[in-house]
Amino acid sequence: MQRQNDYVEAPLFDKTNGPVILITGGSVRVGRVISQYLHQQGYRLCIHYRHSEQAALQWVAELNAQRPHSATAVAADLCDMASVTAMMATVMKDWGRLDGIINNASSFYPTPLPTATSEQWDDLMGSNVKGAFFLCQAAATELTKQKGQIVNIADIHGQHPLRRHSIYSMAKAALIMMTKSLAQELAPNVRVNAVAPGAVLWPEDLSEAHRQMILERTALQCPGSPLDVAQAIGYLLQARFVTGQVLAVEGGRYF
Ligand SMILES: NC(=O)c1ccc[n+]([C@@H]2O[C@H](COP(=O)([O-])OP(=O)(O)OC[C@H]3O[C@@H](n4cnc5c(N)ncnc54)[C@H](OP(=O)(O)O)[C@@H]3O)[C@@H](O)[C@H]2O)c1
Repeated sequence: MQRQNDYVEAPLFDKTNGPVILITGGSVRVGRVISQYLHQQGYRLCIHYRHSEQAALQWVAELNAQRPHSATAVAADLCDMASVTAMMATVMKDWGRLDGIINNASSFYPTPLPTATSEQWDDLMGSNVKGAFFLCQAAATELTKQKGQIVNIADIHGQHPLRRHSIYSMAKAALIMMTKSLAQELAPNVRVNAVAPGAVLWPEDLSEAHRQMILERTALQCPGSPLDVAQAIGYLLQARFVTGQVLAVEGGRYF
């Protein structure tokens, strides 16, 4: 049975002083469930968006209605490094601190070898790894000061290639290596981990036959849900002796 996304947990923090977390792509799809879960735990959130301005502003208004002064929104194109640096400046202006980053935003589409383009390379690499890397660079001093953390949302296909999605798979593989590299480089003050989801929210154009094929190859024989990803992130944010790790949340598809 598929898990619901409205799970409520007791807050971990006082209503007004929870850590400030920046989550990229935090107002739609998986990012929205992650931000809802962390908000319920008492984190204060900076919700990043690129094109989904209306969704982001509405989501931030809802979160602030649930708990005043608990969320802000910030826009950036992760393929534009000036925009990434400016985003960090906005976070500091709005909050005066940053305790964590969830690198969740991502482009995802097939790039079969015969037709793949340099523009697709720049978009997939930019949104999935380059933007995340330079965001971490811009935030490193502040995260070090706050003894903060980074959680990167990778994909099982960063370790097991997805057919006809070579650029996306390579970008997620790079994000996994970035997780381990920065965990070394930013230790002991900043912990850096990744979550590697399997199918938790089907792409809208995926056929029923393809969905069944994936489920048959999954040990638990059910799809995951974005809440499973959110709970894994919640664990990693609290796991004070864990860094440089990639936590697969994929129902036992590859082991
Ligand atoms: N869905 C799944 O089952 C699944 C499985 C494995 C891994 N994952 C990973 O989990 C994360 C969330 O998945 P999802 O399906 O919710 O993602 P998604 O809907 O495909 O993308 C999330 C957001 O990423 C933002 N984005 C894309 N390119 C950007 C850019 N250049 N600059 C700034 N923002 C950009 C978009 O924001 P705007 O709309 O504001 O433009 C988009 O709404 C991703 O990292 C994905 O790779 C998901």
